[in-house]
Amino acid sequence: MSPTSTFPAKRRVLSGIQPTAGIHLGNYLGAIRRWVERQHEKENLFCVVDLHALTMPQDPAALRANTQELIALYIACGLDPEVCTLFVQSHVRAHVEAGWLLTCETPLGWLNKMTQFKDKSQKQESVGTGLLVYPVLMAADILIYSADEVPVGEDQKQHVELTRNIAEKFNRRFGEVLKVPQPVIPEVGARIMGLDNPLAKMSKSSASSPGHAILLTDTPDTIMKSFKRAVTDSGGEIRFSDDPAKAGVDNLLSIYKAITGKAKEECERDFAGARGYGDLKVGVAEVVIAALAPIRERFAQIMGDRGALDAVMQRGAEKASAIADRTVGAMKDAMGLYRLPL
Ligand code: AMP
Ligand code: TRP
Repeated sequence: MSPTSTFPAKRRVLSGIQPTAGIHLGNYLGAIRRWVERQHEKENLFCVVDLHALTMPQDPAALRANTQELIALYIACGLDPEVCTLFVQSHVRAHVEAGWLLTCETPLGWLNKMTQFKDKSQKQESVGTGLLVYPVLMAADILIYSADEVPVGEDQKQHVELTRNIAEKFNRRFGEVLKVPQPVIPEVGARIMGLDNPLAKMSKSSASSPGHAILLTDTPDTIMKSFKRAVTDSGGEIRFSDDPAKAGVDNLLSIYKAITGKAKEECERDFAGARGYGDLKVGVAEVVIAALAPIRERFAQIMGDRGALDAVMQRGAEKASAIADRTVGAMKDAMGLYRLPL
């Protein structure tokens, strides 16, 4: 592959989360924590993908508030706005522009295969076109920054694979304009399950049902209560297991492992003398409380200075636009759109 001048010298990372209420432990362990850990090694762009949120019905005032809160949460989790470009998707016009260009190059059959579309559309009476086309917008999010790596949880792997296919198809037809990205899925924490139903992934859409998710802003008391009511099984063995009947215990141990960074055997050993699952639940709750307490405190502080938050978003949008506009320009040129002489 012959890189064009739009490709960066340092490995570039891009990822994003939708600003819907209920950012949870799965979002943290599957995505944000990895971004934080590796922010100094790479060139990073992290966005709040508000245009994606529009694929499902949103209350406008809530969407606006959730967008600002998610930027604050990124910073509270440890992303340094001096190191990373933090921005809101709708502040960078290139996403929508490139989204259209790529939509015209994406076979409908590819979109019909997306499992998330099948899941989400089945749950709705009327399905918006945006829900179907959404993975193309996600491809645009990634490709306009020529990102090398896309750190996401397991559920997004298919969308990043689609992005690769779209980029390859575009390049075959129009020349090497787009960088083909890699998904980066964490070894632990890539799929945290709901505490109320360990066979379904922890998700924002179920976050309002009590005992389902641990939110990053939950109080220690709420976190302890949610873990205490976590669904397990009628046995008593505390070990990792692929058996669906033991999915609850496996999920609790996986959370413990992801937070502590210990090996599987060590996690099991920590609970070897436990009297039933009660001790396991309290033990896991304690490490989660210790990990989330500083995030919750920093979040409250950051939300106290909205002006500073707006400044971060403004700076982020400017930096992101400068990169994205170059790629969209190259895409338009390659596709034959007429460019006015400057
Ligand atoms: P979303 O909540 O769909 O906006 O997802 C934002 C990021 O969190 C994506 O990288 C997802 O893959 C990741 N994620 C969402 N839910 C989970 C989960 N239950 N376990 C691990 N990662 C998750
Ligand atoms: N589709 C992702 C989700 O629902 C969010 C997302 C949108 C994203 N654009 C992205 C993730 C680009 C990584 C890169 O979680």
